[in-house]
Amino acid sequence: MAQDSSKADFWDKRFREKFMPWDAGRVPAPLARFVARHPERGRVLVPGCGTGYEVRYLAQAGFDVTAIDFSEAALEAAKGELGPLAHLVRQADFFAFEGDQTPFDAVYERAFLCALPRRVWGEWGGRTAALLRPGGLLFGLFFFDDNAKGPPFGIGAAELDALLTPNFELIEDEPAEDSIPAFAGRERWQVWRRRA
Ligand SMILES: C[S@@+](CC[C@H](N)C(=O)[O-])C[C@H]1O[C@@H](n2cnc3c(N)ncnc32)[C@H](O)[C@@H]1O
Repeated sequence: MAQDSSKADFWDKRFREKFMPWDAGRVPAPLARFVARHPERGRVLVPGCGTGYEVRYLAQAGFDVTAIDFSEAALEAAKGELGPLAHLVRQADFFAFEGDQTPFDAVYERAFLCALPRRVWGEWGGRTAALLRPGGLLFGLFFFDDNAKGPPFGIGAAELDALLTPNFELIEDEPAEDSIPAFAGRERWQVWRRRA
């Protein structure tokens, strides 16, 4: 069994076996509240979208959505979920993906950073900054935990700060109220603004 979560076959296997303890089956409440109070739209990237419930939600709210996942089985799940909006999802590796019109206005995070082995977190921080325009937003749900085993690989507040503060400032931070059991009590809604 593939054990390295940096490889697509790790995730293919889990989607194919329908072992998806991270899959919420719905849009997180903090995202819905953010979209309701935040008037700006624009191009948003959803990396590691999985089944991609948020893709339809963001598109219907007026965002121009590009969702990517490197797992073929995840893509199949997303396309099944999204139906006529399936064209918004494409197979790509976050670290190698060439956006056609980068930079993005926003990047949405949910269970993507915690899916990545800790050794690639530095690369994730740099890549996320590079994909966003100055003033662009990284918004979403972050998993805070100190269990060495994963995925999910939890992060510490100071560690996330160290990854992001060179390029971002934290502008929203609150507990998530509707986390699924796998993340309950350890998930926070955060918005980080890309510095100019
Ligand atoms: C824990 S799942 C979360 C899926 C989705 N964000 C959600 O909240 O349900 C992590 C997803 O990230 C994808 N993934 C992991 N590394 C990736 C990479 N380097 N590029 C693109 N997708 C990746 C996996 O295939 C998997 O679908």
